[in-house]
Amino acid sequence: MKKIGIMTTGGDCSGLNTAIQRIVRGANLRKWAVYGILDGTDGLCVTPPAVIKLNDMMLPIENVRLAGSFLHNGHANALNFETAIERGKIAAFNKQLRKSLAELKLDALILIGGNGSLSLAWANRDIYRDLQLICIPKTIDMDIPLTDRTIGFDTAVQQLTSYCDQLMLTARSHHRWFVVQAMGRDCGNLALYSGVASGAAAILIPEIKFDVNRLVEHIKNQTTDYGIIVVSEGITLRGHSGKPADMISRKLTAAGIQNRTAFPEHIQRAGDTTAADRLLATRFADCALHAIENGETNVMTALINDECRTVSLADFIASGEIVHDPKISDLMTSNAYVSPDNPLLDVAHDMGIYIGEQK
Ligand code: F6P
Repeated sequence: MKKIGIMTTGGDCSGLNTAIQRIVRGANLRKWAVYGILDGTDGLCVTPPAVIKLNDMMLPIENVRLAGSFLHNGHANALNFETAIERGKIAAFNKQLRKSLAELKLDALILIGGNGSLSLAWANRDIYRDLQLICIPKTIDMDIPLTDRTIGFDTAVQQLTSYCDQLMLTARSHHRWFVVQAMGRDCGNLALYSGVASGAAAILIPEIKFDVNRLVEHIKNQTTDYGIIVVSEGITLRGHSGKPADMISRKLTAAGIQNRTAFPEHIQRAGDTTAADRLLATRFADCALHAIENGETNVMTALINDECRTVSLADFIASGEIVHDPKISDLMTSNAYVSPDNPLLDVAHDMGIYIGEQK
């Protein structure tokens, strides 16, 4: 009988519980024991490790739609990969993780994480050398190389789209514009997809240079005197500081365009998991369990051209852009961005959405 562990790390998103529930279900059908590690790596930093044995009763099927992680994602000030690197304690931290994993005697660990967690898992793979490490990509930012989709993205697009839909109604009543700031770090996918879905007049993303005067002109030329402008939190405006939505809002105000800013913030990480995210989480869970059966390790599940399969973590690192953390130079992540070939950029442009100066 195999013994496997599950851990959710990094920021939460909708769809984590679906993945956990499906892994438990598939593993129990195989008569494997499943242990949930609580609070990401925090659960491995205590003695004995903080784990719970999971079965179908603990995370019933009717709860799989709920956002957040049943296993939690960790405490901000705890010792984790980031804080250990920052505090010069990475060797001791790695040793502690190895000790706890050895104590748990796991055959495999399924790590559900974002590009930061996956990059760190590869960089510190020695910790996991005595078990099979299978990663599942999740993030609302959709900035993970080698997979066409990540768990949580579709629900975040839905959340942000619904938010813009509601704002559109009050915008119309007051003849004003809303500058909505989307999450996504330095990747524009969430802003782009939600902007197109909600019929925004303009979408500004970090990957495409924009001209603020052209934006102003574009808004003035609209047939309506209200609407939505979606700006990604990763954009910058030379000579200006502050929140991106505020910077753009000030420029619009200076040009006589009535507007307000709106910050949906963590609502984008919440919301009932969409069917598309549940399907993706289910496919990734199934793929991860097969990977364990096949004896794989140091791999990530990926969706490529609607085919679900595993790719090596080495390839995940090699195919992304390696980005250094602005605060911790030793901390590197493999990042993906909105590709210039993304067909949605052409669609947005053809629909009269101002998307920057690339086209
Ligand atoms: O990576 C997910 C994400 O939600 C980003 O889009 C956002 O910039 C960040 O996490 C917010 O992090 P926190 O919850 O720590 O404020």
